[in-house]
Amino acid sequence: MKIIQKVRCLKGELRVPSDKSISHRAVILPSLAEGESVVENWLESKDTLATLSIIKALGVKIVKKGKTLKIKGSNFLLKEPTKILNAKNSGTTARLMLGVLSTQPFFSVLTGDQSLKRRPMLRVVEPLREMGAKIDGREKGDKLPIAVRGGHLKGISIFNKKASAQVKSCILIAGLRAEGITEVYEPYLSRDHTERMLKAMGVELVSYDTDKGRVVKLEGGQTLKPAYVVCPADPSSAAFFAAGAVLLKGSEVLLKDVLINPTRDGFFRKLREMGVKLSYENLREISGEQVADIYVRYADTLKPIQVKEEEVPTLIDEIPILAILMAFADGVSTVRGAQELRVKESDRIKAIVQNLRRMGAKVEEYEDGFSIEGGQYLKGAVIKTYGDHRIAMSFSIAGLVAEGETIIDDPDCVAISYPEFYEHLEQLAC
Ligand code: S3P
Repeated sequence: MKIIQKVRCLKGELRVPSDKSISHRAVILPSLAEGESVVENWLESKDTLATLSIIKALGVKIVKKGKTLKIKGSNFLLKEPTKILNAKNSGTTARLMLGVLSTQPFFSVLTGDQSLKRRPMLRVVEPLREMGAKIDGREKGDKLPIAVRGGHLKGISIFNKKASAQVKSCILIAGLRAEGITEVYEPYLSRDHTERMLKAMGVELVSYDTDKGRVVKLEGGQTLKPAYVVCPADPSSAAFFAAGAVLLKGSEVLLKDVLINPTRDGFFRKLREMGVKLSYENLREISGEQVADIYVRYADTLKPIQVKEEEVPTLIDEIPILAILMAFADGVSTVRGAQELRVKESDRIKAIVQNLRRMGAKVEEYEDGFSIEGGQYLKGAVIKTYGDHRIAMSFSIAGLVAEGETIIDDPDCVAISYPEFYEHLEQLAC
């Protein structure tokens, strides 16, 4: 349990922890390369540690000193694990690892925690089966634990209709070891870190727009060269402090080294649409990714916004914190086309709607989103996180602005992506 009180403002400079999506990939892809890769500023959180221990259980030698990893690539010659692999709470670990395991001729079993065991896997299992992997699991292979015997894959063409980066990445990884060409179409471009990292590792891969949407194509049988990756700060983590600064009078924060890849910065575009003054400073490129220091300050008024289906992939993980901002906007804001939120670490639509209602907001729930009548005062409440890190952090920020005390029932779940969250909050609070 954590009690959150009102604070006056947030002020100062902060480097939030490194990007979770890039940190997962910076372990998985180098483990498949030929030679030694070096990763700096790696995020050490519960999710990324789950990936690290699975990769080690597959025989890959990794030396970790602080935030630096040295990874001895296996060139796809992984070892049959003797134990059940556990992705814990991490959807990215489970889905990307199902792609890796499908390239291997051995037997393996992957499981997860109670939350991950409820999340759908058929979206990767079906295409992997089509490629030739033998996969079985609960509910016809939709739910963990899932058993895989892979090898002898053939390339396929899939339409990734939910624009999921996890699905795209899984199939591209399997495609690296498949015979022929693998292509993934998606209606809107989802986060493209896998493509960027693979290219930096010497993989020939093309990506372009077609009348069926964006396609990424690669030919199987390519070798991955070792990588040198410096992980930037996570925009999904930076979003919490940006939102806090926007809501608290007199606030000013400078969020350092933040990834501003256009497939990831939809939240900051929406902040601008709400009328927030923010700037990207010191723009630069690090390891093939765009990075900036983001300066944000208090906004006197906030315009209501509409989030549409095509925008969802660029801000999917920021919707809980965006919902908090919507509660303070000058009118009704809406999110639609976001049914994916129902199958995240928790049912995030339900978690947002129920907790905002507890704080006194007027909210309507839809199957694929919600609408929020802004401009009301929030009052402190007991927040049910459902063990979901992004719900805990979003409602902690709401608690900084609400009247009275806000109680977060399970604050420890922030360690999934941001173990230092509450320390950083104390550092910036004034
Ligand atoms: C992720 C992709 C997104 C995102 C998740 C991380 C990734 O999920 O919500 O937190 O690293 O590929 P989907 O691919 O299911 O949209």
